[in-house]
Amino acid sequence: MIELRDITYVRLGTRDLEGATRYATQILGLEVAERSGQAVYFRSDAREHTLCYFDGDPADHVAAFEVASRAELDAAAAELERIGHPVHAGTRAECEQRKVRDFIAFHDPTGNRIELVWRPQMSGRRFHGTRDAGITGFSHIGLCTTDAARDEAFWTRVCNARVSDHIGEAPLLRIGKVHHTLALFPTDRKGIQHVNHQMASTDDIQRAYNFIRERNVPVVFGPGKHPTSSARFLYFEGPDGMVYEYSSGVCEIDDEAAWRNRQFEAAPRGFCEWGATPDIKEFKA
Ligand SMILES: [Fe+2]
Repeated sequence: MIELRDITYVRLGTRDLEGATRYATQILGLEVAERSGQAVYFRSDAREHTLCYFDGDPADHVAAFEVASRAELDAAAAELERIGHPVHAGTRAECEQRKVRDFIAFHDPTGNRIELVWRPQMSGRRFHGTRDAGITGFSHIGLCTTDAARDEAFWTRVCNARVSDHIGEAPLLRIGKVHHTLALFPTDRKGIQHVNHQMASTDDIQRAYNFIRERNVPVVFGPGKHPTSSARFLYFEGPDGMVYEYSSGVCEIDDEAAWRNRQFEAAPRGFCEWGATPDIKEFKA
């Protein structure tokens, strides 16, 4: 069993690095950690970075998760190879780019590129965004799946993810106490489906709604409230068609043994108890 500790970062390719940087700083409210030639790294919390835009194919997405030790990283590599997922061992240069001591990369059954990292670097400085957005940190991703049952089995049997709830066929998966760190959305492609940042309060969600609409950024869902995690949310469009989410108030599951996952209806009711309707393809499936 591969024990994932937390989600660490997302890497997204773009043909317009300057445009993506403008968006990440001026709209999302992240802080530039580093610019290094073909990539820009962004902070959203105490970590050295949680998002990286690099010069490349906009369909090239990577999600990284932390494991606890080099021994666990080595064991994960051996297990993935054994069950038919070829593993790439990070080179020294690749580790330096990611600010981790070591990592491996592989593809999940849908073909999503996943990195397992060991000892990702913390910043040592307090995060302060470029505006008073209320961001408290990078929290979860939606990941595309071409076969939800198959991929749920991969993440829950090969890795330590547990199903917190389903919306239609989409499993919301936790790897710690937070209701979900990974959600798998059935669709016809691979890639990261949305990127979530947590906000300090519901007020920040409403402020963001006004801020984002004033700047003509398309809002694609919300403001609303998820009946699954109880988080209040806003989804809006980012560069290259990426969907970003702000949310606040996600519940934590303290009693692992007592939790029973629940089945919610697909969109719109399974996604929003306030009655908002998503304009997001994968949320309509
Ligand atoms: Fe989300």
